[in-house]
Amino acid sequence: MAQSRPDAAPWWRSAVIYQVYVRSFADGDGDGTGDLAGVRARLPYLAELGVDALWFTPWYVSPLKDGGYDVADYRAIDPAFGTLAEAEKLIAEAGELGIRTIVDIVPNHVSDQHPWFRAAREAGPGSPERALFHFRPGRGPDGALPPNDWPSEFVGSTDPVWTRLPDGEWYLHLFTPEQPDLNWAHPAVRQEHEDILRFWFERGVAGVRIDSAALLAKDPELPDLASAPDPHPYVDRDELHDIYRSWRAVADAYDGVFVGEVWLPDAERFARYLRPDELHTAFNFSFLSCPWDAERLRTSIDTTLAEHAPVGAPATWVLCNHDVTRTVTRYGRADTGFDFATKAFGTPTDLALGTRRARAAALLSLALPGSVYLYQGEELGLPEADIPLDRIQDPMHARSGGTDPGRDGCRVPLPWGAEEPYAGFGAQAEPWLPQPEGWAAYAADRQADDPGSMLTLYRRAIALRPEFGDGPLTWLPSSDGVLAFARASGALCVVNLSDTPADLPAHTELLLFSAPLDADGRLPQDTAVWLRA
Ligand code: GLC
Repeated sequence: MAQSRPDAAPWWRSAVIYQVYVRSFADGDGDGTGDLAGVRARLPYLAELGVDALWFTPWYVSPLKDGGYDVADYRAIDPAFGTLAEAEKLIAEAGELGIRTIVDIVPNHVSDQHPWFRAAREAGPGSPERALFHFRPGRGPDGALPPNDWPSEFVGSTDPVWTRLPDGEWYLHLFTPEQPDLNWAHPAVRQEHEDILRFWFERGVAGVRIDSAALLAKDPELPDLASAPDPHPYVDRDELHDIYRSWRAVADAYDGVFVGEVWLPDAERFARYLRPDELHTAFNFSFLSCPWDAERLRTSIDTTLAEHAPVGAPATWVLCNHDVTRTVTRYGRADTGFDFATKAFGTPTDLALGTRRARAAALLSLALPGSVYLYQGEELGLPEADIPLDRIQDPMHARSGGTDPGRDGCRVPLPWGAEEPYAGFGAQAEPWLPQPEGWAAYAADRQADDPGSMLTLYRRAIALRPEFGDGPLTWLPSSDGVLAFARASGALCVVNLSDTPADLPAHTELLLFSAPLDADGRLPQDTAVWLRA
């Protein structure tokens, strides 16, 4: 494991963290599904890319009703992916290459195939087994109506968040019916999760991503949203902070770190999760959702830094993940922001434009103070894929009544070898999601030696990133539509989002650009450059 100097800032304050969606990363056994053998075989690629850590989306035993976010056993690897022994080898092998491992814990809900829920279903109304979940009688004549009016967490879905069992009781599930919500007021639920954290820290993981981190705690009365708007009955409740303080004590014993999936519009409420005795970091969804617009990006960056400063937590910078539209596609559309509510089939997209912007955005995010998350395939410039309707697996699609394309378009198995079957994802069987026409053109082997490729840009940028150090950011004077800042180390980043070429600030060296300067040495539209002052 790469050791940092004792006086150096902790690794996670400035890390580049690569998100591995195991099912689609690389297929080691050739059955069409990515697996741990595939990841182990590609560790040299990840080391060459230069990332500091890997975040694995859930790799546990799961019926895969929500891509693994329906966990049936938190202490075992899904047989489709491998074994626990292989995961331990993977963690160790990555560590030898200086790459740390982050696992994904899903505390809000379990799979309906989890032993606790199977027992609760069997045990019947009023049983201690059911107390681990949220079971309630229904409303209306014969209790035929759901216990309350909460909407689905899958934006666009009008399905109820309650399902009735044959014995008449209903259970709560903010996501699919196969993902019953746990009752976090129950001490056994807390105990179990602290044990799960220890289990993975004991196996050498350096950190834990916390799924749906702001949803765990519920108002015990489960009141209607219409009648109890404040405090919210299940989003961002104060009880959560007590839960995360005890998690922090567990993590501290192993020097482990947390990154929370906290989608909250209110910056002050968001920052509460990052107080020194709670989570170390949380994903920056405001930056991820921000349109390609200089003023809005600058505001997003300033707000982010300002909200983190009082609690002393580092910011994170995220352009995409396994839930959202791929960056090159999003930036190539009329609406360059991200919003679950506006996703639609057939949105016109200019991929060349989107790719140009995504290259500039890569240099922007890697130059900012904090840690950066990179989602597999982002370094290859993969676009969002259109999945044939009969092949879509993501529940978000069906639960929207077929209007939402779902999230499979960003989960397509990676192209590794341009000349190989299935673009080198796996040799024998067709991948679990179809790869679109032209996928091989994005293959890692084709990009590796191409100086103009997205992969080369990411490799160079990650290698040069230490130039920026960990000091603060200062905005430089610039014209409208241009973002220009200096870091304390003396490294500068300039991004031109305007249609007028921009003059560069004084510098001694040009370190890297996302596209060439014009003949007069100015920065063209949708281009970023790194300079040494
Ligand atoms: C998180 C995950 C998403 C999943 C949901 C329910 O938002 O990122 O993929 O569907 O939680 O677990």
